Amino acid sequence: MADPKLPAKRAAATAAIDAFVRDGMTVGLGSGSTSLCAVDILAERIKKRGFSIIGVVTSRQTQAAAKQGQIPIRAPEDIEKIDVTIDGADEIDGGMRAIKGGGRCLLWEKIIAHASVRMVVMVDEGKVVKTLGAFPLPIEVIPFGFTITCKAIDALIRAHGYPNARLVRRDQDKTPVLTDSGHWLVDVHGLRLDDPEPLALALNQVPGVVETGLFVSEVDAVVVGRDNGDSQIKTRDA
Ligand code: A5P
Repeated sequence: MADPKLPAKRAAATAAIDAFVRDGMTVGLGSGSTSLCAVDILAERIKKRGFSIIGVVTSRQTQAAAKQGQIPIRAPEDIEKIDVTIDGADEIDGGMRAIKGGGRCLLWEKIIAHASVRMVVMVDEGKVVKTLGAFPLPIEVIPFGFTITCKAIDALIRAHGYPNARLVRRDQDKTPVLTDSGHWLVDVHGLRLDDPEPLALALNQVPGVVETGLFVSEVDAVVVGRDNGDSQIKTRDA
């Protein structure tokens, strides 16, 4: 079935590229369906307009799409700086804090976002929320000691005042989903994150936790696309 949000996602991706991606830049290419719209648009511009960029991918999915679109790709080790990263999100609030990680690549996404001069999130308007947490928070965890790590995560989340939190291992066919880095994922349901920063910091201290899908400080701009093709840009410094 066609994605009913595709026009809004494409509108967000087009506006993000128009506003933030310039010829000659090194661009972090995000993951998920909105990012794949952006990869398509960039591939088209490279082909038709002689536009030139270097891409740094945040997932194997994006790597395949960029290769297909003949976007030149470099490994993070081989570049000096990432001028801008354009990526989707599962939720974003008014403070430009996001939940990401609906895919299998939140660690790669976080590394690239963190290393970028600028990070731009592209979303359809359904992703804009008052309070993060209706989308279960993904946490990437080392498979070794998974149950022990989950107990520690559960205790920590409760201690932060979320009594209704529920951890669910992300499975496919009853087998743990493997991230692009070979880790497992646990999704935390039942959160309402009015103040996500302390929780994000604390979760990163739990042995076995590799990274969380909370992007509390990385996002510099948000581009919201609408079904009618309109879009709106908000920047942190505005
Ligand atoms: C991938 O891990 C995610 O962070 C995606 O960026 C996020 O799930 C948004 O995906 P869509 O653009 O497909 O909604």
